[in-house]
Amino acid sequence: MPKADSFYETDKAISEYLLFHYGEAPHFLGPTEALDFSKRCAALAMRHPLKHGRALDLGCAAGRSACELSAYFEETVGIDFSFGLIEAAERIRDGAELDADIVVEGDLTQRITLQRPSSTRPHCLSFQQGDAMDLPSELGSFDFVLMANLIDRLPDPAKCLKNIGGFMNTGGILAITSPYTWLEEYTPKEKWLGGFLRDSSPVRSYETLRILLQTQFDEIEALDMPFLIREHARKYQYSNAHATLWRKR
Ligand SMILES: C[S@@+](CC[C@H](N)C(=O)[O-])C[C@H]1O[C@@H](n2cnc3c(N)ncnc32)[C@H](O)[C@@H]1O
Repeated sequence: MPKADSFYETDKAISEYLLFHYGEAPHFLGPTEALDFSKRCAALAMRHPLKHGRALDLGCAAGRSACELSAYFEETVGIDFSFGLIEAAERIRDGAELDADIVVEGDLTQRITLQRPSSTRPHCLSFQQGDAMDLPSELGSFDFVLMANLIDRLPDPAKCLKNIGGFMNTGGILAITSPYTWLEEYTPKEKWLGGFLRDSSPVRSYETLRILLQTQFDEIEALDMPFLIREHARKYQYSNAHATLWRKR
């Protein structure tokens, strides 16, 4: 069970995710293909034919991808383990303008105000606190499930992946993005999906995903999904998540 007092409950994390999800970079000089990650994650639902009934954003943080999905699906649900992030997502959905303090340099911060995208359909969008590894059966089933940068933050990612098919309709699409940044802080080493040697052979996360999902899903596509995390005004961390799409049989 992940701890409720984790990094993702802190004011720092909530500000960072409000900025990451809803912030704009009008004078950004860096690699622009890495901007708007949350929007691009939601757009993964548009790459292949799909029933636009129910969508689930698992590990939704401040809820930007869920806001985007609500424009296309009859119903969208966002779930995150952090009570603080779910509260921020609900307030944004309800039209609040939320302040976030972002680092400019050193101890200097700047207050910015963030709001939901205009395409959001709040009446079709709900958020709830929950555990991706232990979802309640009352959640029902979905046509699209997004797990954006979630799996390498779970104590037992395989458990989540083995169970998710039970919450999906036949023909539904599961979209997983991950930079496969395995850290013992979040995932005990014996639960990593890749990034280690087994009997002297390298184990890669993509291969383990295939093994775990093959009984219930057909793989559709794999692509790169770069993203940027802002550290301060003149420093960003560039990552390249691996996105894989899977169709439920
Ligand atoms: C790296 S962030 C990614 C957030 C968001 N999907 C994105 O791409 O911006 C990981 C998220 O997973 C959430 N999380 C961690 N453990 C979880 C769990 N057991 N169940 C649901 N969410 C979890 C964290 O609170 C955090 O919001």
